[in-house]
Amino acid sequence: MSELVRFGISLDRKLLQKFDRLTQKEGYNNRSEAIRDLIRKNLIQKEWGEGKEIAGAIIMVYDHHKRDLVNRLTDIQHNYQSLIISTQHVHLDHDNCLEIIAIKGRSEKARDLLNALKSQKKVKHANLSMSSTGKFIE
Ligand code: NI
Repeated sequence: MSELVRFGISLDRKLLQKFDRLTQKEGYNNRSEAIRDLIRKNLIQKEWGEGKEIAGAIIMVYDHHKRDLVNRLTDIQHNYQSLIISTQHVHLDHDNCLEIIAIKGRSEKARDLLNALKSQKKVKHANLSMSSTGKFIE
């Protein structure tokens, strides 16, 4: 782990009170960890914008009765096999399936995959959770 550095932050009292309420609600024990996470979140957004190697997950819900849809979704995923590192399929109920597609690669490809999946008819929801390989954030 790299060296820890302490620094002071000047902040409007009301803004700090709001921050403290929010971080307590989210379970942070101290401001430092909450601020570290805010910085990391910002760095991850930059990673996704700068075309670095990223990691994340696509979560999608679709109607499994549409057999042609299941085939199309599988075909699309085969086209992105270098990006996809794992797929988990959950049968939500009689009609609906949920898939969690773990990805690692270029952010542009990740967005292309999301767009290819969510634009299919009967895909009810698809969302991209942007995370990091961990290499660029400490
Ligand atoms: Ni299913």
